Amino acid sequence: MPNPGDFAYTVKQQADIVRIIGEYVKLKKSGAQNFSGLCPFHDEKSPSFSVHATKQFYHCFGCGVSGDVFSFVQKIENVTFPEAVRSIATKLNIPLPKQQFSPQEAKEASQRGKLLDLHESACTFFQQQLKTPAAAGAREYLTSRGLTDAVIEQFRIGYAPDSGFLLRDKLKAEFDEGTLKQSGLFSWKDEEGGTGAMYSKFRNRIIFPISSEQGKVIAFGGRILASASTAAEKDKAGPKYLNSPETPIYSKGRVLYNLDKAREAIRKLDYSIVVEGYLDCISVFTAGMHNVIASSGTAFGEAQVKLLGRYSKNIVVNFDPDTAGAAATERSLAMLVEEDFNIKVITLEPGLDPDLFIRKRGVEAYQAEVRNSRKYFHYLIDRALAQFPKTPEGKVKAMNFLLPHIHRVPSRIARDELASEVAQRLSIDSAVLRQELKSAATTRSKTISATAQGPASLSPAEKVLVRSLLATGPSNASVRDNLVNVLTEERPQEGWIAQPLLDALAAAEPSSLAEPLALPLEDSQRKFLAEVLMQSEDGDEPTAETVRLALAALRRPHLERKLQHLQPQIDEAGRRGDSFKLAQLSAEKLKLKRALDESMRAAQAK
Ligand code: CTP
Ligand code: MN
Repeated sequence: MPNPGDFAYTVKQQADIVRIIGEYVKLKKSGAQNFSGLCPFHDEKSPSFSVHATKQFYHCFGCGVSGDVFSFVQKIENVTFPEAVRSIATKLNIPLPKQQFSPQEAKEASQRGKLLDLHESACTFFQQQLKTPAAAGAREYLTSRGLTDAVIEQFRIGYAPDSGFLLRDKLKAEFDEGTLKQSGLFSWKDEEGGTGAMYSKFRNRIIFPISSEQGKVIAFGGRILASASTAAEKDKAGPKYLNSPETPIYSKGRVLYNLDKAREAIRKLDYSIVVEGYLDCISVFTAGMHNVIASSGTAFGEAQVKLLGRYSKNIVVNFDPDTAGAAATERSLAMLVEEDFNIKVITLEPGLDPDLFIRKRGVEAYQAEVRNSRKYFHYLIDRALAQFPKTPEGKVKAMNFLLPHIHRVPSRIARDELASEVAQRLSIDSAVLRQELKSAATTRSKTISATAQGPASLSPAEKVLVRSLLATGPSNASVRDNLVNVLTEERPQEGWIAQPLLDALAAAEPSSLAEPLALPLEDSQRKFLAEVLMQSEDGDEPTAETVRLALAALRRPHLERKLQHLQPQIDEAGRRGDSFKLAQLSAEKLKLKRALDESMRAAQAK
């Protein structure tokens, strides 16, 4: 959290969250200090997203996200905290502090800038080349693949001419030799050692620009025009796809093709569709499913999966079912399972990739495939069932086939559920399967993420207590102090879901209560806090009486339990004729009953 003196603090003081969020979300006034609109972080038809003007935070009652102006920009732009601070500062015309870069860092940053410029220039060159007479064959090929001019424009598809010198000569005029070398777009004829021996790696290919998450061209993929038929032709043409090598601005394992165009839709729809090829991706996107990205033929790496996970953890995979791709597919899926994705799979009929499927069967048929995609584990179980006989040995084999997949699931609860499901489908004893899982679970190094979802909302009485603990005005100081005492003296009480939140607020420094959402809290508790903050107006802090009633209401389940425990003891003392014990217990019962009566009244008053 920003501290006074930080640059971020200065920015936050000057940023109006309503205006900043208003640039992304249509906000309407909905109360003295609140604005509301459609949540940009989940798909909804009626607005449950609120922005609090005086407290300067947002909260969505639908999906539970909340935070300050920085967290909003971080989420919506998918950037880091420092980037969000800089972006807001720029919007507000606040001059950025001079960055303290080492000379080396400054040099690298400027080199990356040059490489980005070079790629932009090369991309424009390839696009222009596609319009020349020499590119007639390329245009014909693209038309035969169903690509319209508009789509070619949108994806900035281009053509690398047969001559390797055209691109070189153009870029040589704009960039220094070192930058050209670093770009990865050129090869050298070394035997002469001459300077003119540099030529473009991409020749006579269709060019697909590959962009960063922010939409800057950072690499290219080049496809040969048609499948070569003879071996000699194949040799001459080279591989079907040729891609840029790793460069200072491009790392294959960190980039997902089309993420720049798809990220908004992935966030909104809360799932992504992943296909293998550039053209598959373009076809699916053009068919109106904008949440599609391509893995570009290789297995997903951890960086890519994490990147995607920041937008949505739900994924529909549609990889080519051909055997050549199977190993990469398996590894990608394993990675997704480990990162806790909800995975569904589409298996198109053999021989059809998404692009072909859409062109043969139509957009609606493909949409139906996406809708009817199967849970990955159901698909695996079906595969196991089809692969192994229903004999005892077959079942063991099927179990051994499935176990490694189940082991990868990070959540124990999810693993248990899967184990039961598998046991049922294979009709084997689920205890056996669970035991197998357990022995492996203890060796798991990964921490198990909390999957248990808390209750949806706090009770009115708990909200009163939270509001009272947030009150920092002098007139409420004594009410707050009393409540803090009560909370620390009588260790409350089963069924208080706000317990950790109340503890944190009671223990917090008064100064940190100015920004309570910055307190270290579990997500679920922060969500409760945001709700209370959003619903309370300034100055309507609870009085001593409302706090007393709230406490009484909250004590009720506890009192009822105590009373239930007391009755058998009273009966027992009666049977034994222990009149002293009986009197003692009866007095206690009376006290409990009184307290309970009061709590009943308090509950009714709410
Ligand atoms: N790929 C690659 N290098 C290769 C072959 C493939 O980088 N030598 C990547 C490309 O990103 C390609 C994807 O893997 O889009 C899928 O390959 P493949 O299924 O062979 O091609 P398609 O995408 O079906 O290509 P097309 O439809 O153009 O034939
Ligand atoms: Mn294809």
